[in-house]
Amino acid sequence: MAVAGVFVVLQAVPVFPRTNPVAPATAALRNQVEVPEEMDKILQRSCWNCHSNDTKWPWYSRVAPVSWLIAKDVEKAREVMNFSSWTEQAGKKLQLAVGMLAASCADVTVGRMPKPEYVFLHSEAMLNDADKKDFCGWTQREGKKLLVLKRKLAAAAANGQ
Ligand code: HEC
Repeated sequence: MAVAGVFVVLQAVPVFPRTNPVAPATAALRNQVEVPEEMDKILQRSCWNCHSNDTKWPWYSRVAPVSWLIAKDVEKAREVMNFSSWTEQAGKKLQLAVGMLAASCADVTVGRMPKPEYVFLHSEAMLNDADKKDFCGWTQREGKKLLVLKRKLAAAAANGQ
């Protein structure tokens, strides 16, 4: 009874809100980075629930104390990199955008992302070696394009254009 009581009380503790804030469509990743269909699929199944505003909150995300952990994770994930508000966030600074793409490749390669505990519950998020290779090839290609753009913009600025 005492345990059940504590459990009921826990449900009333305020947590990070489980929100899906709305970002303008113009802020999405694809406005700055070319996202081929295959990469879109990988992002959707392995990253989207944490690194976008379109989180599908599972039923257990409503049950404390698990809800606190999940809401906090999503909050942190969106803070560092949000594909829904990319151009207002990482994409605002080309160097940061390049860094995020490179970090994504590194994290995916070593299995730090998607988070292992997430993959444990969402087997569809698992990336095999071929997926990882494709993903890194894509981040490298797009990173290079952004660096070229950065150089062009810097040159234009230097010419007073
Ligand atoms: C279960 C939620 C979750 C999923 C799914 C997830 N991430 Fe993350 N990610 C986080 C959290 C939380 C952080 C911030 C704290 C940390 O670094 O652990 C983060 C941080 C990051 C960072 C920045 C930190 C760094 O130094 O590298 C990158 C890049 C990243 N994630 C890429 C990805 C990519 C790419 C995917 C999909 C292939 C992905 N994540 C899937 C939760 C997630």
